[in-house]
Amino acid sequence: MTACGGSRFWRLRADVVVVGTGVAGLAAALSAHRRGRKVVLLSKAGETATFYAQGGIAVVLPDNDDSVDAHVADTLAAGAGLCDAEAVRSIVADGYRAVAELISAGAHFDEGAPGRWALTREGGHTRRRIIHAGGDATGAEVQRALNHAASALDIRRNHVALDLIVDEGAIAGVTVLSDDGLGAIYAPSVILATGGLGHLYSATTNPDGSTGDGVALAMWAGLPVSDLEFIQFHPTMLHTGGGGRRPLITEALRGEGAVLRDRNGLAVTDGVHPMGDLAPRDVVAAAIEARLVATGDECVYLDARAVADFARRFPTVNAACRDAGIDATRDPIPVVPGAHYSCGGVRTDVYGSTDMPGLFAAGEVARTGMHGANRLASNSLLEGLVVGGRAGAAAAQHAHAAGPSRVVDPAAPVRTALPRAELQHAMTRFASVVRNGDGLRELSELLDTATPRALDSRADFEDAALTTVAGAVASMALSRNETRGCHHRSDHPEPDPAQAFSVVQSARTAVGCP
Ligand code: SIN
Repeated sequence: MTACGGSRFWRLRADVVVVGTGVAGLAAALSAHRRGRKVVLLSKAGETATFYAQGGIAVVLPDNDDSVDAHVADTLAAGAGLCDAEAVRSIVADGYRAVAELISAGAHFDEGAPGRWALTREGGHTRRRIIHAGGDATGAEVQRALNHAASALDIRRNHVALDLIVDEGAIAGVTVLSDDGLGAIYAPSVILATGGLGHLYSATTNPDGSTGDGVALAMWAGLPVSDLEFIQFHPTMLHTGGGGRRPLITEALRGEGAVLRDRNGLAVTDGVHPMGDLAPRDVVAAAIEARLVATGDECVYLDARAVADFARRFPTVNAACRDAGIDATRDPIPVVPGAHYSCGGVRTDVYGSTDMPGLFAAGEVARTGMHGANRLASNSLLEGLVVGGRAGAAAAQHAHAAGPSRVVDPAAPVRTALPRAELQHAMTRFASVVRNGDGLRELSELLDTATPRALDSRADFEDAALTTVAGAVASMALSRNETRGCHHRSDHPEPDPAQAFSVVQSARTAVGCP
């Protein structure tokens, strides 16, 4: 990378810029680096959603009773008619290779017997096919191994990608806010790997940086996004009161025998689905929500007292419970559904390519068609690894073919934004596990009152990103007059076969931008 000088506005050059340092971003960066490209990674915040992933990686191993067909079938069933079956097959079939590569990079997974990985089950899976590390610390191990592999790469911390620089319809770099002020990194390839958007809501399992950045950046550049109404609420977020990031209570606990009960000890999912507490996530989250409405209670309980060797197998959950003053070996764990994962995002193919030459997206920010209307548990680390690696290869190839970008000086962007607490309150009230048309209209009216804001800080940028993304979620949720996957409409409680398609939205919501 070459510093191009400049006094106040700084300028740099790279072949490939990767925005985000979770599983998809690091897999992409390593892949482009291996192909000889100059890669710069931008990290806005220290924490990634990858680090917090607990359950594991869903992967078909070559030597057990599982099959790619079975994993594809489970993924399609969870996706409720909106998955792209070819995309699912392509990603699932490449899973074992990608995991083997991760192991070559130094990742260690738990073994059930010497030389054989321990496999667990989560909601919607008909087989035990989820590998895990450190019991329930899978994401931390994946992040550790990838961080180590990427330790020689150029990672710029506290760098916020504010805007995409576009030159004659192709990506030319990113405008960046850093401790040195506003600048630009010019590159013929940019990979968005910014993760999710859980902070649209007052409480979420996501880390602080999950503010929908990549989706907003793509929308501001006029790119299409899809399936954003399908925000997955994890059934079991620890109920501690308060907002912001709250601990996840992994679904793998239910795979190992924990059961959901209400305050009166009644099962929550009885009669709801043949898979009971291990039904797909949307079904379990909606069953909990219905029980909370019926009882007026604040939470239900996950009873993990019969789970063998709880503290050793689930050290992360155990620690989170203890921090909250709960001994899960003696008492049921209070839980509520929590905003967890965006099934939709920037439209890409399974190589991370978007509609703009040179711009790629991978991981939670992208919508490959893998998840449809509801993601199957533990398919996200899988998708991030597979598509991240592929996007890095495609970006490297594109950078080589396209050559250096022109230096096009961007203007400091101004976007519309709502105050964050107001936005989160409205999203939590009107666009949570169960929505309805009246609430979504009220939400949209509120979002229309957003006012222009100069993006002078990370908080300004995040508020603007959240506001843009909330607008897309609200309008897609309003246009889907049915219940499907993790989009539950109380005023349209059944699926409508005539609406079995993805909504695509593309909008430039910039104010005062070049
Ligand atoms: C969990 O461990 O329950 C979450 C896994 C996932 O989101 O796929």
